[in-house]
Amino acid sequence: MNREFERYIAEKLSLYQDCIVKDAMIYCMDGGKRFRPRIIFAIAKGFGLAEEQAYPLGLALEMIQSYSLIHDDLPAMDNDDFRRGKPSCHKAFGEDIAILTGDALLTESFNVIADSGLEPRIIAKCISALSHYAGMQGMVYGQMLDVQAEKGDLSDLEIIQDHKTGGLFKISCLLPMYLADKNDEEYFINLGRRIGIIFQHQDDLFDLLRSKDDFGKSTSDAQNGKFTALSLYNIDELQMVLDDKFAELSEYLKKAPFDTSYLLELLQELKER
Ligand code: IPE
Ligand code: IPE
Ligand code: MG
Ligand code: MG
Ligand code: MG
Repeated sequence: MNREFERYIAEKLSLYQDCIVKDAMIYCMDGGKRFRPRIIFAIAKGFGLAEEQAYPLGLALEMIQSYSLIHDDLPAMDNDDFRRGKPSCHKAFGEDIAILTGDALLTESFNVIADSGLEPRIIAKCISALSHYAGMQGMVYGQMLDVQAEKGDLSDLEIIQDHKTGGLFKISCLLPMYLADKNDEEYFINLGRRIGIIFQHQDDLFDLLRSKDDFGKSTSDAQNGKFTALSLYNIDELQMVLDDKFAELSEYLKKAPFDTSYLLELLQELKER
């Protein structure tokens, strides 16, 4: 755990006015793996920047990640009662407050970047990428495909995953690139896409293989009849697909325009999780 970043998150959240939505924001932000902020920090360091410079970007993205999970767990979506090792937001605070807490985290995330003190030009690019890939070019669009999908082929699966999960991973690759004042969108969007699809393939696998307590969240895909990677592959096949995708990712990183050593370390953790 990165104590300094956790302290930064706690401090920023403490500034909102006391109310039940603030309590729920703090409750729901707690306990995440912070994998997306850690990608931001690893790439920022690979560009020679200090990790702390990227804290507002990491916080903003983690707020969007937490909001997406609150709404994903709602009875109208995946209907899951357990998240980040404790009752999900609507179980702890009720559905009305859960919806509003998601709204608050989403909306305030833009403010975190707007008030970051970074250069206005960089702020504009970061907010643009954040809204784009969390919204209709990314997570929200992907979640819409996800709730409507009953079955499909490999290309349907990759389109869903590339949006619902890849969206936030694209953000985690683009923001540190903007922070470093670079303009290599294509490379970083593809990097986010590759990591996102791996991450969701693994998540689908763990939904079957891990218990709720090990995983820290409900494992409901099979009983909800969700269309996931396991609708197309059995466990052994999926593990092979993942090995291939990790190998392709390593190849892709050989062309990276930054020092990849920090990111490779993080991806090794992902591989072994
Ligand atoms: C859960 O993401 C949502 C998926 C895309 C599978 P994480 O597994 O990163 O969840 P937290 O943020 O650590 O709780
Ligand atoms: C990804 O899919 C969720 C989001 C994009 C918010 P899942 O529905 O599989 O995520 P978990 O397993 O509930 O975390
Ligand atoms: Mg879902
Ligand atoms: Mg879910
Ligand atoms: Mg899942």
